[in-house]
Amino acid sequence: MNKNSTKPLNLFEYEKLAVEYLSQMALDYYASGAWDEVTLRDNRAAFERYKLRPRMLVDVSKRNLTTHILGQPILMPLLIAPMAFQCLACPEGEIATARAARSSGVGMVLSTLSTKSIEEVASSCDRVAAALQHRSHAPALQWFQLYIHKDRGLTRALVERAYTAGYKALCLTVDAPVLGRRERDRHNEFVLPPGLQLANLVDISGLNIPYQAGESGLFTYFAQQLDPAVTWKDLEWLQSLSPLPLVLKGILRGDDAVHAVEYGAKAIVVSNHGGRQLDGAIASLDALVEVVKAVDGRAEILVDGGIRRGTDILKALALGAKAVLVGRPILWGLAVAGEAGVAHVIDFLRDELDVAMALSGCASLEDVDSTVTSDQ
Ligand code: FNR
Repeated sequence: MNKNSTKPLNLFEYEKLAVEYLSQMALDYYASGAWDEVTLRDNRAAFERYKLRPRMLVDVSKRNLTTHILGQPILMPLLIAPMAFQCLACPEGEIATARAARSSGVGMVLSTLSTKSIEEVASSCDRVAAALQHRSHAPALQWFQLYIHKDRGLTRALVERAYTAGYKALCLTVDAPVLGRRERDRHNEFVLPPGLQLANLVDISGLNIPYQAGESGLFTYFAQQLDPAVTWKDLEWLQSLSPLPLVLKGILRGDDAVHAVEYGAKAIVVSNHGGRQLDGAIASLDALVEVVKAVDGRAEILVDGGIRRGTDILKALALGAKAVLVGRPILWGLAVAGEAGVAHVIDFLRDELDVAMALSGCASLEDVDSTVTSDQ
């Protein structure tokens, strides 16, 4: 950490600090949203629209933040969202993130577009796991996020590798048939710097992010390689490739959530991709209520987008989410201090959630019911 900088006390301060550690291209890629970034801002504003309704005179001397997601224990209701190209933040990239997730007892979703491979990330946690042996509940919730490529053989290989490497669920991102227009990346002609590559794809297919003048290389990659023709019917094929439970990420409507359940999804991530896909799309917190109602307990519901405080997690849980995913703040931690920075960011959220629960009269997550928040 830069010794001239003030020690960060929260995720916003981490973001300010991270600016000093990142190239302009990396910072813009991480921070930006699509078009006018209205949805990016609204994800945050939505949390400010909801208020907490604390209960008084409850014994909160012992608090329990643990929960289960798809049957797997985690020490707090948080997963690290899938995010591409983490080696832009620090040399260990996704490996540092995975180790911090493991030692902090939270989940992690690895992106298809990671800069460390499926296998490297899975095995990198062995050291942490060994150190945690004494903790009987040391969890290992790792999911693999999938983008369906036009090359179905390649897609199949990714799923099989994730299963073999021990990932516990397949998280299919459904909000990106094409890439959202992120104009900062377009200005920068976004491309991976020398030495970084698509670790899951380069060996088996030679694929990498192409340089294209006047364009984001990632936009071009999506247009060339990803399949915009995927529909609900393809979910059957996808589920035939491995026994992994299917999670759909990027659902924003109750009717889509019902389809997801009917087509076999075991969990849904209510998400607008951190405002990076369809600008003007509803804030994910606003969509959460409709999705929870429509699914009516038939699948686990998670939400992401704009979560920066423990109180945000509390509001999401009160509105019916089982857990949340956190995106960009993890990258800020990674940029500032690698694995320790990610762990630090998670610690802030854990501490804030713990205090917010105590102040709301909730000793455990079961106490966080719908009366704990309101939009009034
Ligand atoms: C993402 N996101 C994302 N989602 C996904 O399904 N696959 C991916 O590869 C990526 N890559 C990615 C890169 C970067 C730099 C960001 C910021 C985001 C979206 C991510 O999983 C998540 O939905 C949002 O980041 C959540 O919003 P916050 O917490 O960043 O506001």
